[in-house]
Amino acid sequence: MQNNLYRLIDRLCDEHSLSAAEYEQLLDRLTPPLAEYAAQKAVAVRKAVYGTDVYVRGLIEISNIGKNDCLYCGIRRSNRGCSRYRLSEQEILSCCDEGYALGFRTFVLQGGEDIFFTDEVLCGLIGKIKSKYPDCAVTLSLGERSRESYQALFDAGADRYLLRHETADPDLYKKLHPEAMSFDNRMQCLKNLKEIGYQTGCGFMVGAPHQTNRSLAADLKFVEQFRPAMCGIGPFIPHAATPFAQYHAGTLEMTLFLLSLLRLMDPGLLLPATTALGTIDPNGREQGILAGANVVMPNLSPVTVRKKYELYNNKICTGEESAQCKSCLSRRMESVGYKIVTDRGDRKPFIIKNKINGSNDNATV
Ligand code: SAM
Ligand code: FES
Repeated sequence: MQNNLYRLIDRLCDEHSLSAAEYEQLLDRLTPPLAEYAAQKAVAVRKAVYGTDVYVRGLIEISNIGKNDCLYCGIRRSNRGCSRYRLSEQEILSCCDEGYALGFRTFVLQGGEDIFFTDEVLCGLIGKIKSKYPDCAVTLSLGERSRESYQALFDAGADRYLLRHETADPDLYKKLHPEAMSFDNRMQCLKNLKEIGYQTGCGFMVGAPHQTNRSLAADLKFVEQFRPAMCGIGPFIPHAATPFAQYHAGTLEMTLFLLSLLRLMDPGLLLPATTALGTIDPNGREQGILAGANVVMPNLSPVTVRKKYELYNNKICTGEESAQCKSCLSRRMESVGYKIVTDRGDRKPFIIKNKINGSNDNATV
C-alpha cells in the first residue's frame, strides 16, 4: 500500500497529472518519509528549470480598506478594530524607488478592494511605474474587478495578476465567504485574467476552517487544469477579530507537502514561500524553498503601515525596513544553498505532456 504512494509521486513527476482521488490519497496518507521523497524529487525538478535562483517580488501593501468581508481575514470590512490606511501615489512610487535600488525588478501592488483605486487612478500609477522602470514587471493583487477593468490595467502595462481562488470546492467557498461573494465570479475573474494575457496566479490557504483533504485535492486538480503562471499557497492563520478566531492554523507539514506536489505537477510554476509560512515556523520560508518553492516576497511597504495590514495574527516582517527585509531573506536563502537574483523573474516555459484530455499533444505553459 505504502509503495503505491511512492509510485503516485513518481507518476506525478513523469506525467504532471493525477486524478483528484489520487491526490486525496496522498494527502490522507502523508508521512514524513513520503514528504521527504516528494521534496527531494521537487527540488531536483526545480533545479533543472530554475537552478538555485530564487526570484524576489517587492510587495507593496497599498491599502487595507476594502468592501470584502471574507470570514478568515483580519482586514475584513467588519473588523472595526482595524486601523485603516491607504498609501498615496507618491508613497507607492517611493516604495518602488527604494525597491529598485535594492535590486527588485517586480513590484506587487496588493490591497483590499478599495473603491478609491479606480481604473483611472491605477492606470496612471501603473503608467508611471512602467515608464520610470521599464525593466520591471508590475503585478497586481487587488481582488475581483470587471473584465473591462482588468483589460484597462493590462493595457496600461500591468504584467501579472494574483487572485487566489481560495478554494476549488464551491461548498467550502460558501463557508469561508459572506453571501455577497460568489465562487462562480471568482472563477470567471481568473478565466478573464488569463484570456486577457496576464501571467495569472491563483492559490489557496492550507488548513482553512472546514477544509478537508478532498477540498485540497480539488485545489490541486484545479491548478493542474487551469495551469496558472503562479500559485500562492500558505497556511491559514487565525486572526482574533474574525469569526474564525478559535480555529487552528494550517500545518507546516501539509503546506510543504503541497508545495512539493505543485512543483512536480508543474516544474515551471512560480511558487512563493509565503510570509504566512514564515509566520507559523521561524524557518518556514527556507523549508518552503527546500520543498520546491522558488519565489519570496519581501515587504516594501512603509514600516508605518505594516502592522495595519494584518491578515492574521503575529505576521512577521512588520518591523524591519525594506533593506533589512531583503538582506534578511538573502541570508536565509544562502543558508540553504540558494540565491536571490536581480531579475524580473518571469515564468520559464516548460513542456507538459497533455494527458488531461487523453491526447498526446504537448502544451507549453
Ligand atoms: N484583495 C486581494 C484579493 O482578494 O486577492 C488581495 C489581498 S488578500 C488580503 C491576500 C490573501 O491573503 C487572500 O487571498 C487570502 O488567501 C490570504 N489570507 C487572508 N486571511 C488570511 C489568514 N487569516 N491566514 C492566511 N492567509 C490569509
Ligand atoms: Fe477578502 Fe481580506 S477581505 S481576503
